[in-house]
Amino acid sequence: MKMTEFEKRFVNRREKAEGNIKKVRQCFEYIDIGKVNNVLELGCGFGFVSAFLSENYPLNVHGTDFDPEQIASARHVHPESNQLHFSVADATRLTFKDLDFDLVLSQNVFHHIPNWPLSVKQIYRVLRPQGYFIWIDLVFSKFIKKIFQPVTKNYGLYTSAEIQSAFAMVGFKELFSEGVAAGPFRSQQMVLQKM
Ligand SMILES: C[S@@+](CC[C@H](N)C(=O)[O-])C[C@H]1O[C@@H](n2cnc3c(N)ncnc32)[C@H](O)[C@@H]1O
Repeated sequence: MKMTEFEKRFVNRREKAEGNIKKVRQCFEYIDIGKVNNVLELGCGFGFVSAFLSENYPLNVHGTDFDPEQIASARHVHPESNQLHFSVADATRLTFKDLDFDLVLSQNVFHHIPNWPLSVKQIYRVLRPQGYFIWIDLVFSKFIKKIFQPVTKNYGLYTSAEIQSAFAMVGFKELFSEGVAAGPFRSQQMVLQKM
C-alpha cells in the first residue's frame, strides 16, 4: 500500500535508516555472505539500506518499491551504479525470473501489504535454493490484530506465529529469530533459508 506523505516523512529519515542498517548487519552474522552476489530489497523506500549494501559489500543490489515516488527519491539520493539498481516493483507480483537472487531483504514492508502471503510465495520463487531471506518487521498480538483488523484493511496484520508458519509452509528453514518490544507491538528479525 502506498504510504501517506506524513508516513514517508517519518520513514525516510537518515537516523531511522542507520538503525535499519544495524539490524541488517546483525542478521548477516547468520548467513554465509561469501555465497551471496545478487540481492533484492523489497520496499526499499528512499534506498538507504540498498545503497549501503552496494557500497560496503561486493554485492549487486536491486532496491525495489511499490511507490514510484519512493524510487524517484532513492535514485535522487543514491545515484545508480553497476552495483546498485532501483526499480518499481510490487512485492506481491514480482516480475523477476525464478531463482534470480541469493538474498531477499524485506524490512518494515509486510505490515503495509494486506495480502502479504502472496509476497512470501514470490520471495521463495525468486530465491535460488539455499538462498537467504532476511525479514525484519512489526508483529502483532492476537488482541491488537482483533481490535485493528476491522478498521485497517490496507495494512498487513499478523502474529509472530502466523508469519513463522507461513514461512515454514512455503519451505523456508529458520536460521535466526528474535523479537523485541516496540511500543504496543513487537519488532521481529528473522533470517531464513530456502530449502
Ligand atoms: C515503512 S516503509 C519501509 C521502508 C524501508 N524499508 C525502511 O525500513 O525504512 C514501507 C515501504 O514499503 C513500500 N510498499 C508498500 N507496499 C508494497 C508492496 N506491495 N510492494 C513493494 N513495496 C511496498 C512502501 O512504498 C514503503 O516505501
